[in-house]
Amino acid sequence: MRIILLGPPGAGKGTQAARLALGQKLEHISTGDMLRTEVSGGTELGRLAKTYMDRGDLVPDEVIIGMIQGRLKGGAGVILDGFPRTVAQAQALDKAFTAAGTKVDRAVYFKVENEELVKRLSGRATCSGCQTPYNLNTAPPKKAGVCDRCGGKLAQRPDDQPDAVRRRLKVYEEQTAPVLDYYRKAGKVREIDAAGPVDEVYGRLAAAVK
Ligand code: AP5
Repeated sequence: MRIILLGPPGAGKGTQAARLALGQKLEHISTGDMLRTEVSGGTELGRLAKTYMDRGDLVPDEVIIGMIQGRLKGGAGVILDGFPRTVAQAQALDKAFTAAGTKVDRAVYFKVENEELVKRLSGRATCSGCQTPYNLNTAPPKKAGVCDRCGGKLAQRPDDQPDAVRRRLKVYEEQTAPVLDYYRKAGKVREIDAAGPVDEVYGRLAAAVK
């Protein structure tokens, strides 16, 4: 299976992608995580990307497509989380998959109200070691500031500040919502209600990719 998770910031794509990857033995590719690795490594790409990410804008298509191309090979199943985010990226993905003799099987759209998204993002904290996501309001770690899974330190993302969140939601409507239409026209979209407990959302996701 080659699955794309689509939805606004905070919809739960990363949380659910990690579970689905474990449950179905698929590779989880998150362009957001790839970029954050570049940023924390202080690479040239990371320094460039940070200027866009911190204010909530998309990193330019050519940078993203160049970064991810090497990982879009045929063979193993994959979950794409945070990519494609523009129609140009979706077209580049189709091209890469066609060249590898494969295709996108399903695009799952995570539907959540904006008010809930803002609430989730303002409380989000992520492990700096293993990237496990927490929510300080609804799903905190057992010990404050420390990851239950690996003992790593929890951090809040600069782009989860209110101004950047507002910008990310706007950018999503303007640049990423058209990607949903792109996959709707191809008959690949399954829409799920991504509100409610994480386990219930996972059940809906697993049914949507069956
Ligand atoms: P990226 O990291 O992809 O951010 P995003 O799409 O904005 O998504 P998020 O990670 O904010 O949310 P999510 O849907 O994964 O939710 P999560 O599971 O974490 O991208 C960051 C930036 O990188 C972009 O703004 C851009 O600059 C750049 N970038 C990345 N890819 C790019 C691309 N392809 N092109 C150009 N630029 C790109 O959950 C959020 C919170 O909610 C967590 O606290 C979680 O614990 C909680 N939560 C999850 N599920 C539930 C639930 N069911 N109930 C209650 N709380 C929940």
